Amino acid sequence: MVKAINERFRQAFGAHVRCAGPLAASGAGLRVSGIDLCNPLRPVEVNVLLDALGQYRIVTLAGQRLDSFSVAHFERFANHWGAPLPHPSNFKRPALDRFMDNPELLPREERPSSRVNGAFPGELQCLPGADSPAVLVVANMHGLSDEEREAGPTLTRGTTWHTDIEHHPIPLHVSMFLVHKAPVSRDAPGGTWVRDPRSDSAPNAPYFEDADPELMGLRRALPLNGETSYADTAAAYAALPSAEQRRLGSIRVRRYSYATKETVPVPLVRTNPRSGIKSLHSPLSCPRPPRQLPVEVDGMSRAASRDFLDEIEAHVLQREFRYDHAHSPGDVTLWDLFTTIHVAPPIKENIQSLDDARLFYRISCKGEPALTLPRRDPPEWVEEHIFLGYTTPREVIEV
Ligand SMILES: [Fe+2]
Repeated sequence: MVKAINERFRQAFGAHVRCAGPLAASGAGLRVSGIDLCNPLRPVEVNVLLDALGQYRIVTLAGQRLDSFSVAHFERFANHWGAPLPHPSNFKRPALDRFMDNPELLPREERPSSRVNGAFPGELQCLPGADSPAVLVVANMHGLSDEEREAGPTLTRGTTWHTDIEHHPIPLHVSMFLVHKAPVSRDAPGGTWVRDPRSDSAPNAPYFEDADPELMGLRRALPLNGETSYADTAAAYAALPSAEQRRLGSIRVRRYSYATKETVPVPLVRTNPRSGIKSLHSPLSCPRPPRQLPVEVDGMSRAASRDFLDEIEAHVLQREFRYDHAHSPGDVTLWDLFTTIHVAPPIKENIQSLDDARLFYRISCKGEPALTLPRRDPPEWVEEHIFLGYTTPREVIEV
């Protein structure tokens, strides 16, 4: 199968392009080398990329040259996939869906990029364009106080399994990372970057405290070298007996929206319009507790909804559907939010060594792809569906 997509990439981009995949046992994951995203994309190239993500769910365009590739180039690239959504971390709290009146951008010195720039002055600075409201700076460093320096690095246990912003009337459908720096230090017992936080006999929080121990074991089996962990919900769906697929095909879930203060039933099983691949869209009872309310299944009580979705989550998190994606500087990695769920791994924070630095830029998009730029989203659609009516500025599109 990779031969066919490889041929399409070579026809569109040139004979120097190479594809490797699938990267995961489930059939997900494609790594493409030889595409320089400093160059604007032609429609024929965008089409191949859209098809590749539809088919492989996770696609890495490796080897961007970080001395010339900027976050502005990255945001221009993101515009082909959908309209980029501003990220709440760039605004004064309370964030995004919890307030709708006069949200204010954080002052420059409090922006995530400024805090990163204060950690290793002269050694590691965010790439140009990282200040965009649409860019989430994912970093484990900031300028440390004397007490923090004295205390040394801390260990976070990773996030809960989720899909990015699935509760909007139009959910996000793709997220992407540009990797600036990935950790290289391997000093934990066993030669990993961090020790296994499960050795702490930690409480289940922020998952429900009474969660099933077996399910908790699957949730907490996370990579220890800063990889992003994915579960392939298309492969998990395909592995189900057809009677079960039919049953799930009729299920509607209700996700609470802070924006509209209501729930609308949406299908649990989604079909990718390009590939025709069916998948389970964020089949989780409580994707990001305590920030989000539990999901309810249409026609079920809250308790029955939780039991039902826990069972699906345990199915999806089995080893054969899991994939831990290792990051390298210069990678642009996209993932389809309808066909995967993901989790941020345990990481070291308050780091004092550049070897431990993990610095990514993330952009997430919604709406239709665009073969040419600038996008032509109707202003009333942008106003309704994109926080603050944001559109990428012209100077970024023309970077
Ligand atoms: Fe996420």
